[in-house]
Amino acid sequence: MSANRPAAVVVLAAGEGTRMKSATPKVLHALCGRSLVGHVVAASRELSPEHLVVVVGHAREQVSAHLAETDAEVRTAVQHEQNGTGHAVRMGLEELSDSGVALDGTVIVVCGDTPLLTGETLQRLAAAHDADGNAVTVLSAEVPDATGYGRIVREDATGAVTAIVEHKDATDAQRAIREINSGVFAFDAQLLTDALGKVRTDNSQGEEYLTDVLGILREAGHRVGACVAGDHREIVGINNRVQLAEARRLLNERLLERAMLSGVTVVDPATTWIDVTVTFEPDALVHPGTQLLGATHLASDAEVGPNSRLTDTTVGRGAVVSFTVADGAEIGAGANVGPYTYLRPGTRLGAKAKAGTYVEMKNASIGDGTKVPHLSYVGDATIGEQTNIGAASVFVNYDGVKKHHTTIGSHCRTGADNMLVAPVTIGDGAYTAAGSVITKDVPPGSLAVARGQQRNIEGWVARKRPGSAAARAAEAARREDEGQQ
Ligand code: UD1
Ligand code: CA
Repeated sequence: MSANRPAAVVVLAAGEGTRMKSATPKVLHALCGRSLVGHVVAASRELSPEHLVVVVGHAREQVSAHLAETDAEVRTAVQHEQNGTGHAVRMGLEELSDSGVALDGTVIVVCGDTPLLTGETLQRLAAAHDADGNAVTVLSAEVPDATGYGRIVREDATGAVTAIVEHKDATDAQRAIREINSGVFAFDAQLLTDALGKVRTDNSQGEEYLTDVLGILREAGHRVGACVAGDHREIVGINNRVQLAEARRLLNERLLERAMLSGVTVVDPATTWIDVTVTFEPDALVHPGTQLLGATHLASDAEVGPNSRLTDTTVGRGAVVSFTVADGAEIGAGANVGPYTYLRPGTRLGAKAKAGTYVEMKNASIGDGTKVPHLSYVGDATIGEQTNIGAASVFVNYDGVKKHHTTIGSHCRTGADNMLVAPVTIGDGAYTAAGSVITKDVPPGSLAVARGQQRNIEGWVARKRPGSAAARAAEAARREDEGQQ
């Protein structure tokens, strides 16, 4: 059931969305890694239309800039005043004809605030429109509560669609109808253009209603049809943030379901949140309380969570990542990260490497089998293979003006509590003593000791803190020692 390629898709996104109560234009609010209008554009792209026009109006600079980033091929048409959906489509079509495009075939109209609409449903609508040879086909849906929607009015005898009546303009009998207009249509391009010229504004809102085109075409003797959406939740329009949260939940459920059916274990779908751009291999496992965002990828047998947020991060086969925040990191096969670890952009962990508890890394390449197990900061560094970094070490990369790089070889053992003051290089197989402040390069195979000598001043407490608990404890220890001799 594949429809012909539509001549154009027109996305309506000029409205302000006052009920969002937001400084951000409604269509730019995000769910699952894309804006509302971004989801609609992505679904529209699945139809491979010859032209894709988004009608912008409110905050149009911001919306246009966002669109240019999202999809370079998108055109925008400006609707200076929001005079209704019919007027908006007219602006979209004028933009095309002004630039010399002569539309021939099908025009699909969608609203910019219906992020759950799938390309599949759009394809079904386009196919039904083609198969039935309609002048217009509306995507309708049976909804539990039709309040606010335009109602699909059908002829009693034949069931044929005769008109769409807006809620505000409907009679009580019409308001009882539960089949509603989703706001998505397939039109014959030429008939749409002609009919839009005849749409009037004598309605309760004084606007040009796109929905009036149906009645106009039917009265002129053209075929008008409806294609009923299989799942009414797909066509919900977002008007406020309660609906935004609900749509996010539904979309997230859909994404997780797809992941699970492809072989991913999601322990608790209710507390797992993923973006549309996240990818998995079979037998990846996600523990509760986990957000996977952006271009994050989990390979087979990778285990992520609980309580982790991974953005644009790849997790290699069999790696284990728990209680971690990672952004722009590459985690190798069999690596171990967490608990309580922060991996920042440019972190690359080799196979079987470890970034342990309370470890922060940034712009750091950690070789295969190398471990940074505890309480450390590794910034701007390259570390070879099978090296161990002692607990509580800091890669001192910043002199207040510039960032500097630290290079550590393979099979090194740096002591606990080291300050590695960059730029500095530690050669292969070298050791450093605990508590060292390493400011000079360490040749391969040597031991660097860079700390003050210890000196014990006997009897200091008895002289300086006489009568204190410390002095009494020391005296008791001294007697016991004497008694034993
Ligand atoms: C519209 C339909 C209604 C349908 C409902 C589905 C009309 C007259 N009504 O009503 O039958 O049930 O959608 O959600 O078409 N827009 C513009 N320019 C304008 C007006 C609107 O670009 O001048 C855009 C809005 O940004 C939005 C979309 O068109 O994306 C729909 O507009 P909205 O005002 O939300 O229409 P509804 O009253 O919901
Ligand atoms: Ca709406």
